[in-house]
Amino acid sequence: MNVETMARLAQDGSGEMFDAIASRYDLLNRLMSLGNDRRWRLRTVQALALRGRVRVLDLATGTADLALLVARSLRQASVIAVDPSREMRRIARRKISAAGLDDRIELLDGRAEELPFEDTSFDAVCMAFGIRNVPDRPRALSEILRVLRPGGTAALLELTEPNGGWLLPFVWLHVHAVVPLLGAALSGSREYRYLQRSIAAFPRPSEFARMMTAAGFAATTAESLTAGACHLFVGRRGPAT
Ligand SMILES: C[S@@+](CC[C@H](N)C(=O)[O-])C[C@H]1O[C@@H](n2cnc3c(N)ncnc32)[C@H](O)[C@@H]1O
Repeated sequence: MNVETMARLAQDGSGEMFDAIASRYDLLNRLMSLGNDRRWRLRTVQALALRGRVRVLDLATGTADLALLVARSLRQASVIAVDPSREMRRIARRKISAAGLDDRIELLDGRAEELPFEDTSFDAVCMAFGIRNVPDRPRALSEILRVLRPGGTAALLELTEPNGGWLLPFVWLHVHAVVPLLGAALSGSREYRYLQRSIAAFPRPSEFARMMTAAGFAATTAESLTAGACHLFVGRRGPAT
């Protein structure tokens, strides 16, 4: 599959592109982020500040790493994990069962732009490396806000263009030279060039934070991680009026 086909499949928001790389996804993720993806997801869970009996929605759950982390971080949490890619969900199902968490993580087919849930039905919503792949981001943001309860928090983690700090030259080199080579070698194709294209096409962090505010989120923040190679966007649904 060439880069153009990957980009087209990604743009349709169906998750089909991820079916092709699902079996290699976790390994590629770990190697390309030099293991930082775990730390970044951990930070995402911390930002949700979950307490007590909570219902959490993990969008674009993929192979369920973030859903598993949420469930492990709080025994009273129940997680609904949603993704449109059948192959990613197949691997997620295996991991959830292996972790003995079938009773607390429910896995569903679905897209962020069209959530099959009632208004205000979640205490928190999270999404790791997913919003970049969603074609209609404003619509997804308003759906996230709709399903959040008043006072609830959304935490969206996303890869961004490295932009600052003393690590910048190393991170830039890694992202722009090492990652494409690793991707080509490990995935056996040039599919991972799509990754760089989609990162370059993603709005600047300040702009994306403004999009969240425009969608209706309150107290929106954008936290730079690892020289800006990743950002954590957090927003709250304001109290009911
Ligand atoms: C890069 S993976 C992220 C997986 C996982 N969240 C993680 O932490 O590694 C992106 C996921 O977004 C999903 N996706 C693609 N289009 C989507 C959409 N419109 N709504 C929700 N998820 C989507 C893909 O199927 C894929 O599993």
